[in-house]
Amino acid sequence: MRFDEQVVFITGAANGIGAATARRLHGEGATVVLADREADAGRSLADDLGDRSLAVQCDIRDRASVDAAFDVVRDSYGRLDQLIAVAGGSAPMPAIEESPDDLWTGLLDLNLTGTVRCIRAALPLLRSSERAAVVMVSSVNGVAAFGEEPYAAAKAGLSNLAMNLAVRYGGDSIRFNVVAPGTIRTRAWGGARAANLERMRRLYPLGRVGEPEDIAAAIAFLASADAAWITGITLPVDGGVLAGPLHRMLTVDELAVGPLRDPADSD
Ligand SMILES: NC(=O)c1ccc[n+]([C@@H]2O[C@H](COP(=O)([O-])OP(=O)(O)OC[C@H]3O[C@@H](n4cnc5c(N)ncnc54)[C@H](O)[C@@H]3O)[C@@H](O)[C@H]2O)c1
Repeated sequence: MRFDEQVVFITGAANGIGAATARRLHGEGATVVLADREADAGRSLADDLGDRSLAVQCDIRDRASVDAAFDVVRDSYGRLDQLIAVAGGSAPMPAIEESPDDLWTGLLDLNLTGTVRCIRAALPLLRSSERAAVVMVSSVNGVAAFGEEPYAAAKAGLSNLAMNLAVRYGGDSIRFNVVAPGTIRTRAWGGARAANLERMRRLYPLGRVGEPEDIAAAIAFLASADAAWITGITLPVDGGVLAGPLHRMLTVDELAVGPLRDPADSD
């Protein structure tokens, strides 16, 4: 029960990696605030978890929405101990020569500035916690070249952000770390992309793609007191894909996998 008496705010908590993280931390004793732009899915997870859970609708692309969600935390609990910034996603993208500015600004906003908005709103509360930690979810795309440049650049930005904030807020004992997942079986790989998910397995030295629970376990470690002396790092949780050279033998382009897509954007 590493999270007894801890209040944890999780973005993107209604599905996939965020939901698995919420279940994991709740199972370890945390009170979880499930922040997601999909209100119904967030409420349904809160109903399922029961006590020590609260769903708040929040779109990380909107500062007022983010600030309002943290106001709810302040009013409901008067404290916050950990922020887990999972919400993000990609979009179909053309070759860089043809990529429009709004594709870049949109993906930077969702994957980088959106997390900054959450950190900014969380900091006044985190300062009062004795176990304050922020864990951000990046991607192996943010660590090496797997294509999807705007998404990759935004995710890479999180790693630098973690280093700078680790230094800036080390004196306040607030830790900042990043988890960089490889391919994870979530709805982002559903529908027409499901066959590609099976083929992606061949990229991974450990012979399988990841499950949301694989990422939740690493997030729980970095958010917990077990990682009390770890700050400013990016931890790949990737079945060995970054260890290479397997990913060079069978590239993402050869697999014709296409971009990681947020299904909510295709509505
Ligand atoms: N699935 C993968 O293969 C994979 C690999 C590497 C990194 N990631 C990253 O992991 C994170 C979670 O992805 P997932 O696969 O679990 O996706 P998912 O679609 O299963 O869940 C994402 C959740 O985030 C929410 N969300 C999206 N945009 C939001 C916004 N603007 N404000 C608030 N909530 C928002 C969605 O409603 C959804 O509940 C993303 O940041 C993604 O980039 C995923």
